[in-house]
Amino acid sequence: MDHPVKPRFIVFEGPDGSGKTSALERARAWLQKELVPVVTMREPGGTEIGEEIRRVLLNTPRGPDRMTPRTELLLFLASRAQLIAERIRPALKQRHVILCDRFNTSTFVYQGLAGVIPGSRVLEIMECVGTYTPDLTLTFTTDFETMMIRSSPLLDRMERKGEAYYRKVIDGYEEVLTNTPEILGPHERVDASMSPGAIDMRVQELIERELTG
Ligand SMILES: Nc1ncnc2c1ncn2[C@@H]1O[C@H](COP(=O)(O)OP(=O)(O)OP(=O)(O)O)[C@@H](O)[C@H]1O
Ligand SMILES: [Mg+2]
Repeated sequence: MDHPVKPRFIVFEGPDGSGKTSALERARAWLQKELVPVVTMREPGGTEIGEEIRRVLLNTPRGPDRMTPRTELLLFLASRAQLIAERIRPALKQRHVILCDRFNTSTFVYQGLAGVIPGSRVLEIMECVGTYTPDLTLTFTTDFETMMIRSSPLLDRMERKGEAYYRKVIDGYEEVLTNTPEILGPHERVDASMSPGAIDMRVQELIERELTG
């Protein structure tokens, strides 16, 4: 790759089991081989406070008397606010490339389009809180059957959330690709049904264009 590269904030998005985390790890290894300074982070979490919030989010049952959808949304945004201040802005200042596993689009899709808070309201709240718009989001798209096969922990979660919810998640990502809200930044589709090798070619082409274009 031509050097120097631009410091960029790149997000991997898509439904559960679409292959984001494994593709992100392969992209990190590739960038390191290309001698690009790269850091990776995950959402929610990535900071000490964020990891505590992550534990609350993962361990607290949802429901009328437990965690409400608004509490859930605000916890995600709180974790993100810390990540932006503590890691994202400093890393970009040091001219690093950031690969992040999920970000604003997950919040819009899961809490908004597939959840109970209207998507437009989720975007408004995000804007009020203040966020960082990614330079590029790679959106892994898949169908329900592939998602089920690839994500065995999903089978447990499925019993709680139901198939209809995950179908809404898949449709939500399609909606974002068709009509991307400005605050979410540019999105590019990665067809997650391809082989890992073909996915890597697509991911590398998109990232290289972003870093050197
Ligand atoms: N292109 C692919 N072809 C076949 N299997 C794949 C492919 N990509 C990933 N997998 C497999 O699918 C499973 C889920 O992949 P991965 O954990 O990367 O998905 P994810 O999008 O990060 O899921 P989650 O949202 O649950 O974190 C893993 O077992 C992985 O090895
Ligand atoms: Mg993952």
